[in-house]
Amino acid sequence: MTSTSLADRWGIQPQHAWLRGQQPEATVEYDEKQRHWNVFGYPETVDILADPATFASDVTRLYPDSIPESLKDGDLTLMDGADHRKLRKLTVHAFTPRTVADLEPRITEICGELLDKVAEQERIELVNDLAYSLPVIVIAELLGVPSSDRDMFREWADEMLAAQMEWFDKKDQPQGEQMPLDFTAPISDYFREHANERRKRPRQDLLTRLVEAEVDGERLTDDQVTTFAGLLLTAGHITTTMLLGNTVVCLDAHPEQQARVRADRSMVPTAIEEALRFLSPVAHAIRATTTDVEVAGQRIPADQLVIAWMSAANRDPRQFDRPHAFDVTRDPNPHLGFGRGVHFCLGAPLARLESRIALNALLDRFPALHTDPGDPPVFMEHMSFTGVRRLPLRIR
Ligand code: HEM
Repeated sequence: MTSTSLADRWGIQPQHAWLRGQQPEATVEYDEKQRHWNVFGYPETVDILADPATFASDVTRLYPDSIPESLKDGDLTLMDGADHRKLRKLTVHAFTPRTVADLEPRITEICGELLDKVAEQERIELVNDLAYSLPVIVIAELLGVPSSDRDMFREWADEMLAAQMEWFDKKDQPQGEQMPLDFTAPISDYFREHANERRKRPRQDLLTRLVEAEVDGERLTDDQVTTFAGLLLTAGHITTTMLLGNTVVCLDAHPEQQARVRADRSMVPTAIEEALRFLSPVAHAIRATTTDVEVAGQRIPADQLVIAWMSAANRDPRQFDRPHAFDVTRDPNPHLGFGRGVHFCLGAPLARLESRIALNALLDRFPALHTDPGDPPVFMEHMSFTGVRRLPLRIR
């Protein structure tokens, strides 16, 4: 199958023409209906992510009533400047490649246990059987909350994504500015209860570190701890689920490359990086301009919402040779799948490690990993996320 037809074959992101081998007509465009700017090019996206003073992450500034302060405080993705630096510094050591490498035996064990359960089957549903469960168990154990609560976490994540989609479509309508926030109460209550418990009885977990941490001599507030823990929980699993599923979908569409990776496992990491470029799970970053600025010759006024499409930048022929070809040997591969700059994905080392272990385990155990046209994969409908929700596979 040609790479171009992969998106068409499974109906992935119908609006994202770049996934179908088409170049966006303009590098920068204003979306009249949604009243925001889209940026599609690689160098332009890099410039935006490298300039947080001009392109701020706190987009709620443009929609002051969209979410209450208590839910913003502690959300790294909505923070800028010194506040962002301080909170990020507190947590970055928990996610360095070295710290994360210590998790390898446990991740391998969880992966083995999950795959043991389906060992005798002819088919698996990758998301349920492995790609969702593995990252959610790992992040729950890191935080120190019971991984047996994971069905509840999944419901929360689904409700959050639905609320975001609803808000985004209505964000510019006068009555539509308040994000539906019903989904946040159970998450806050859950982490508040666990955080209180850690204050009384500290443990060896990330939640304890968060409640004990001090920034400039001050403890984090309850709101900061619960919001940040909620962010880690959601950012830490939906995305990795998509990455593992997307990698398998890409390898299924390119059997000769699946055979190469099977035969030479040193290609597993480059195959994962290529899947991040080719089907980027997080399709874009959102920023708010703080001042007038020019992008690719186009003037963007202050206080505008800018959507920098990493998934389109990752197909930019100015940066990537044969951008629409999936190539497991592509190296170097400076894709923007984890973003760039000060907000570069905190969990990238963990996501890479989990995906490497999981893909190796799948290749070790199963002689085949094939999609089934009779029971096709189902992809997310959220415009911000490109990835499988359901991936039935024939494994023999
Ligand atoms: C930020 C992608 C896995 C936690 C980001 C950003 C991207 C991204 C693109 C930057 C957003 C921006 O600049 O606005 C991904 C992908 C993943 C993944 C594709 C998996 C394949 C994870 C995991 C965790 C995590 C496993 C945590 C355990 C975070 C956090 C931020 C972030 C906390 C915010 C960082 C900041 O604003 O300073 N991620 N992520 N991510 N990611 Fe990930």
